[in-house]
Amino acid sequence: MTTPVVELSGVSKRYGDVLALDDADLRIDRGELLAVVGPSGSGKSTLLHIMGTLDRPTTGTLHIDGYDVGALSDRELSVLRARTIGFVFQQFHLARGVPAIDIVADGLLYSGRPRGFRRQAAERALHRVGLGHRMRHLPHQLSGGEQQRVAIARAVLGGPPLLMADEPTGALDSQSGETVMALLRDLNDAGTTVVVITHDRDIAASLPRQVRLKDGKIISGVRA
Ligand SMILES: Nc1ncnc2c1ncn2[C@@H]1O[C@H](COP(=O)(O)OP(=O)(O)OP(=O)(O)O)[C@@H](O)[C@H]1O
Ligand SMILES: [Mg+2]
Repeated sequence: MTTPVVELSGVSKRYGDVLALDDADLRIDRGELLAVVGPSGSGKSTLLHIMGTLDRPTTGTLHIDGYDVGALSDRELSVLRARTIGFVFQQFHLARGVPAIDIVADGLLYSGRPRGFRRQAAERALHRVGLGHRMRHLPHQLSGGEQQRVAIARAVLGGPPLLMADEPTGALDSQSGETVMALLRDLNDAGTTVVVITHDRDIAASLPRQVRLKDGKIISGVRA
């Protein structure tokens, strides 16, 4: 059997009195494209933050690409995260007043690569998301869908095997949402494992696997 990209065993996350994630077991294999669904407050973002190693579990174990995350120092964990995981959020989090090409190039800021290399990689990534004609535009000069595509270009710049998106279409009209989803599918076709939190039933239903949460528990979709 190949090593799963993500494996949670008995993972819980407590915030004070709130048990945001309750004894979750989940395995995600390379090349999967899956939706995480459930009511507001059910623990979707908590699950994504834990799978993305942005937050540590209160109890339970998490393996990313075979590494036991609990056994890594914060520094080792940042290296693993930078190499393995790209993130996309509902609000695009693009630096104001910075041209698209530099926003994307900054995705490789800590890679030790020279600026010229970073900008060339950013140009390729922007072409890949269909924004080759918008490289010098500032975020406020771009549509919402275009801004999200810039965020995706930044997230995939270093070629991470895993992409996690928390409501990537939540702030978009349905047309731009479809463009963003088509892009995530293309990335998945090219080999990236993609996890998408969504409230959109049609989007969730269109993906090969749905992991459903309720009150912090995974109630379906544990198995692919
Ligand atoms: N940092 C925190 N401190 C305290 N409670 C938190 C924290 N983060 C999340 N929670 C609580 O944990 C529960 C799960 O939150 P989470 O953000 O994972 O829900 P969600 O499914 O993503 O909801 P939504 O669809 O509204 O984004 C909620 O009850 C929330 O109030
Ligand atoms: Mg959320």
